[in-house]
Amino acid sequence: MMTKKNTTLGEFIIENQASFQYSSGELSKLINAIRLAAKVVNHEVNKAGLVDIIGAAGDTNIQGEDQQKLDVLANEKFIQTLKNREIVCGIASEEEDDFIQVNSSDQKNQNKYIVLIDPLDGSSNIDVNVSVGTIFSIYRRISPIGTPVTIDDFLQPGRNQIAAGYVVYGTSTMLVYTTGDGVNGFTLNPALGTFYLSHPNMKYPQTGKIYSVNEGNYVHFPQGVKDYIKYCQEEEDDRPYTSRYIGSLVSDFHRNMIKGGIYIYPKSSVASEGKLRLLYECNPMAYLAEQANGKASDGFRPILDIQPTELHQRVPFFCGSSKMVEKAEEFMQRNQ
Ligand code: AHG
Ligand code: MN
Ligand code: MN
Ligand code: MN
Repeated sequence: MMTKKNTTLGEFIIENQASFQYSSGELSKLINAIRLAAKVVNHEVNKAGLVDIIGAAGDTNIQGEDQQKLDVLANEKFIQTLKNREIVCGIASEEEDDFIQVNSSDQKNQNKYIVLIDPLDGSSNIDVNVSVGTIFSIYRRISPIGTPVTIDDFLQPGRNQIAAGYVVYGTSTMLVYTTGDGVNGFTLNPALGTFYLSHPNMKYPQTGKIYSVNEGNYVHFPQGVKDYIKYCQEEEDDRPYTSRYIGSLVSDFHRNMIKGGIYIYPKSSVASEGKLRLLYECNPMAYLAEQANGKASDGFRPILDIQPTELHQRVPFFCGSSKMVEKAEEFMQRNQ
């Protein structure tokens, strides 16, 4: 695989398309659509403090969350951009009640790819100018070409993903993605509007010193998670670990992948499946984690092996450096 630094994303797509197991032209189209959508949303996020797009939109989404204006805007921009490119046959989004059927211009349902998105991740951070992200997950349809997409196209196990990634709108904007051949990170040069390969072949360190969990929910956590948190805080070997939690999965994941760490959003006595969405958040992050030598589990089994049953299904999430996830799983097995 070609991983020379300062290659543009456009060059990278062309030079690495041979490693894609499906048609190379299709991969280019798909990633180009995502790249374009990412730039459009980046433009909106960047000017958030200047125009009237901060704050609540006034509606509640299917998750029961108050939608932020940027949740709605990012959702619209992504869907619009993906719809127009003759490659995607269906889109599902955290912000939409149902999946969207996309017709190609010939109306013959010839497009092959399914995209699932969390258009704006960490949206509670918008008002305070803290990093947010976008997460995407791509599958090939399983319904026959020429027919409308069905719910089963969307309810595929994460193992079936053919590409996944995220955009982090941080101190700089980065697009990080995998097509099943490692993980590469591209940084946007805002003056030129071009993404450059800045983080080739990203890998989680085997272990790390950071744990990321919303400890405010501690009393509601299962005993195994409480015990693991105590373990992180003990004075022994390289512990205590450092606690870091941004409240934006994308940003927490990005930091932990670079520095070594674990992210946990467990189930709790008030949320029996936790909070994070299997299809829009956990599957794409789990695919990236595995591609970067890390691990992702629900505390007991790999996230990517779960057979989804609902579009907006939630799942407990333990993700990060492999040794740390294994240790957390040990605690879960001892004490659920
Ligand atoms: P979203 O903004 O897409 O709804 O996702 C928010 C998620 C995730 O990004 C973050 O890690 C987590 O919710 C934070 O939840 P808490 O505020 O409960 O910690
Ligand atoms: Mn949300
Ligand atoms: Mn999210
Ligand atoms: Mn979101």
